[in-house]
Amino acid sequence: MKREIHYIILPEVGSTNTWAREHSAELQLPVAIRGVAQMSGRGQRGNTWEAEPGKNLTISIVLKPEGVKPSEQFSISEVVALGIVKYLLTRGIDAQIKWPNDIYVGDRKICGILIENSLFGSEIERSIIGIGLNVNQTEFLSPAPNPVSMSQLTGREYDLEEEMYSLVKEIEQKFVRIGDAGDRFWHHLRYKAALWRGDEGVYLFRDIKGDRRYEGTIADVEPEGFLSVRDAATGEIRKYSFKEVEFIL
Ligand code: BTN
Repeated sequence: MKREIHYIILPEVGSTNTWAREHSAELQLPVAIRGVAQMSGRGQRGNTWEAEPGKNLTISIVLKPEGVKPSEQFSISEVVALGIVKYLLTRGIDAQIKWPNDIYVGDRKICGILIENSLFGSEIERSIIGIGLNVNQTEFLSPAPNPVSMSQLTGREYDLEEEMYSLVKEIEQKFVRIGDAGDRFWHHLRYKAALWRGDEGVYLFRDIKGDRRYEGTIADVEPEGFLSVRDAATGEIRKYSFKEVEFIL
């Protein structure tokens, strides 16, 4: 099934995700909303998202993920992250997915994702998929420890509108068959293969509840999104949901 993606370009907006939620009744889906200047971008864990006006892509894609149950919603994160990694590869940038859904190049963050789903009964009525991709920005002022942009990596200056179309198409395509369990399974395997620090190496983690640092290895990510880490000292497997564990850089 071929679907037409609508585009809305807002010269200035607080947060594209908030704008999308506030205008949800009027939107024809699927739609991508770009804030050329996003002044109060929202990040994960209540953080803010820095984007120099006119330099980066700050986009919310709004769509209905047909055939995905609320219990399967991690697959939305997976396909979005995979779409971004694939798009970056077409630009010669080899990126990985930092669980659950940051996009990293080496140890630096090039893209953040904030997905907000609204549920209706046993259905996901709509997903607001917020994407902040660092494109042409070369100086970062916020306290985020490790940002990097496409320009910094390739030395090129990008046409943001063109990049937006390529990026959105790459992501939206992955939603066409997301209702198919077999497709979701393959996406899950690809997600695991693209994981940052997913190479069985030993890394430093912080267990947030216990406020304890330890060395461990990523053992698995479940289709529901739980991360399992094997404690390098004891061999114990610890299973985490988002916000329960932190990677130490
Ligand atoms: C993160 O903390 O890593 C997620 C950042 C998500 C930022 C994007 S920019 C477009 C969309 N609108 C927002 O307010 N946030 C998301």
